[in-house]
Amino acid sequence: MQLQGRTALVTGAASGIGAAIARAYAAEGADLVLVDRDAARVQGLATELGAQARTVDVTHADATRQLVDGVAAEHGRIDVLVNCAGILTEVPLVEMDVETWDRMIDVDLRSVFLLTRWAAPHMVRQGWGRVVNVASQLGLKGGESLTHYSAAKAGVIGFTKAAARELAPHGVLVNAIAPGPVSTPLVDGLSEDWKRAKQAELPLGRFGLPEEIAPTAVLLASDPGGNLYVGQTLGPNSGDVMP
Ligand SMILES: NC(=O)c1ccc[n+]([C@@H]2O[C@H](COP(=O)([O-])OP(=O)(O)OC[C@H]3O[C@@H](n4cnc5c(N)ncnc54)[C@H](O)[C@@H]3O)[C@@H](O)[C@H]2O)c1
Repeated sequence: MQLQGRTALVTGAASGIGAAIARAYAAEGADLVLVDRDAARVQGLATELGAQARTVDVTHADATRQLVDGVAAEHGRIDVLVNCAGILTEVPLVEMDVETWDRMIDVDLRSVFLLTRWAAPHMVRQGWGRVVNVASQLGLKGGESLTHYSAAKAGVIGFTKAAARELAPHGVLVNAIAPGPVSTPLVDGLSEDWKRAKQAELPLGRFGLPEEIAPTAVLLASDPGGNLYVGQTLGPNSGDVMP
């Protein structure tokens, strides 16, 4: 029960890695608020876990502010924020339209700024907080037809380091997780050829499972396990990247 008494907000909680983190946090005793744009699925998981559900689009500045301030008011505190909501599309750079670029940056990067921006003042006031940003190993190595995704995720890693420097003196630790390929609906849609080739180049020879990523999110939120991680990017990635 490493998260007993902690109020945790998890975005992208209706599916994949976010849902696995929600399950792991529930098992560790966290007081959970699950956030997603998919109302039915996030409510379903929240009911199963005895958590609260909020249907919010994480790209909306006003809605995310109301969400975070509302949770802090209702629960008296907000201890852990997991920024996991994300999208993935494949488009060659020479074919990419500006809307596709902007949408990716909005969902995968701007949302991380928004949620952290609204949560940080509450955490600073408490003198304790943890922010866990789900980036990707593609933010470190880049990927074909993924300039927008790679840029957004590299942005998350840079944001994590800068926010960590600002907030650590206040007891608020900001870190990132950069998973390798994980079997979720996000990658299930990619071509079989891509998946075969990708699997073959991994030292481990296989994709990860969401429940193999979630324990890293528990570690980063835990005390004392997470106490010395500041601005780090942890890589449960089947050996895809070895920084
Ligand atoms: N699956 C992988 O291989 C992999 C690898 C590295 C990083 N990641 C990252 O992990 C995170 C989770 O990915 P996943 O594989 O679990 O995907 P997923 O598609 O299973 O889950 C993503 C969730 O985010 C939600 N979401 C998307 N846009 C939203 C918005 N604007 N507002 C609110 N909710 C929104 C979706 O509804 C969905 O429930 C993403 O940030 C992704 O980039 C995934």
